[in-house]
Amino acid sequence: MGKENKTIGLLYNGGRVDLDLKEPSVGPDVVDLKNFSAQTGLYTFDPSYSSTASCESYITYVDGTAGVLSYRGYPIEQLAQESTYLEVSYLLYHGELPTRDQLDVFRLKVKQNMLLEESVIKLFDTFPENAHPMSMLITSVASLSSIYHHDINVREPEDREAFFFQVLGKVPILAATILNHINKKTVGSYDEKLNYSANILNLFFGGIPNFEVNPVFSKALDVLLILHADHEQNCSTSSVRLAGSSGTNPYAAMAAGIAALWGPLHGGANEAVVRMFNEIKSKDRISHFIEKAKDKNDPFRLMGFGHRVYKNYDPRAAFIRATCHEVLDELGQDNNPMLELALALEEIALHDQYFIDRNLYPNVDFYSGIIYQALGLPKEMFTVMFALARVVGWATHWCEMMANPGLRIGRPRQLYLGPKKRNYIPLDQR
Ligand code: ACO
Repeated sequence: MGKENKTIGLLYNGGRVDLDLKEPSVGPDVVDLKNFSAQTGLYTFDPSYSSTASCESYITYVDGTAGVLSYRGYPIEQLAQESTYLEVSYLLYHGELPTRDQLDVFRLKVKQNMLLEESVIKLFDTFPENAHPMSMLITSVASLSSIYHHDINVREPEDREAFFFQVLGKVPILAATILNHINKKTVGSYDEKLNYSANILNLFFGGIPNFEVNPVFSKALDVLLILHADHEQNCSTSSVRLAGSSGTNPYAAMAAGIAALWGPLHGGANEAVVRMFNEIKSKDRISHFIEKAKDKNDPFRLMGFGHRVYKNYDPRAAFIRATCHEVLDELGQDNNPMLELALALEEIALHDQYFIDRNLYPNVDFYSGIIYQALGLPKEMFTVMFALARVVGWATHWCEMMANPGLRIGRPRQLYLGPKKRNYIPLDQR
């Protein structure tokens, strides 16, 4: 006997509509509203998408109540502990873990794309000295659409795959170019002996005599990249999908995602957290800032705290906090004042009734900036590091979406509250 379709009945204006329930592989059922408007003449209202599944996806699963995150079914803790960023990238893109040979081919394809075209390099001469790194990242990624446009057919799997490897290879070089634009240095070089994350550190800080990548730092970076690689339909990924659904150039869609990531409520929080720590300064001032965060008349929020989906400890934050200790131990900074402040702030907030009642826990951005700072990065670069990791998630979601033959342009409706029809009054009669 076939599986019975589950439905949910809805009474409206004296009528009734039966809506199908879609069953996910894990998690709660999803009400199918695709034909709701056609059936009822009504729209649904969910302005910040708290109750809305915007697409079908096979990539990443988040259970916010339990504090669970997995990529293609593999728990994030196992991947962060045992895998590497490139292996995780392969997993996200292909859906399965690679064999050694498959990983070698994958690594080679990424490496072959680790170069920048002359016109993109020249673009950096036009940025003001104090340009924000995220502004430079948005602009330079968007500028790649001026080079890769005429030859890309977004409906062709080979073209999508070519884009995937291009973007994975180019964004680390762009990040290094941005950092060196700030530091007025030249970008270090790619070293065949180093893995992906060690190479990023080499591109950032190499190019000086006797520079060697510290393996504790490259491991920490790799863990950060894995933890940030994807997070289902967050603000930036949804921006990539929405922009991409029009069939636009994929670099333009990536730029939309990077733009969304920059905001302090999303990826920009990692920079905002360190600014907040600098403002708080010392443990004795924490309670003042906790009170400000609770005060509804004060716009201040505890940055790096709270999450739309996690109503439990963000599993990424726990891992990043442990990595933070490892990096600071390696630097001989086990009493690092910023980490001490962060730990004390977390402790106080987690025992405060306001934060308990609202299930507000540290998120992925709470501790990451302390690591980036210890690695030698200025705080304005932190969100670029987030983007560098998330590129694989955005590109995989874009590929998944574009491969769907049923793809339709994303086009939400609205609850219109403006004026009703009125007649135009000529200028001289007003
Ligand atoms: N500090 C103080 N109060 C908070 C915080 C916070 N960080 N976060 C949420 N709240 C409060 C809200 O004021 C609200 O209180 P109320 O019910 O009394 O009105 C309640 O908790 C629910 O908050 P919402 O704003 O409805 O939560 P939402 O899901 O819309 O926002 C967000 C989630 C944006 C992450 C929010 O928690 C926040 O602003 N955090 C700080 C910024 C941050 O760290 N962003 C990074 C998120 S992770 C990422 O995107 C990579």
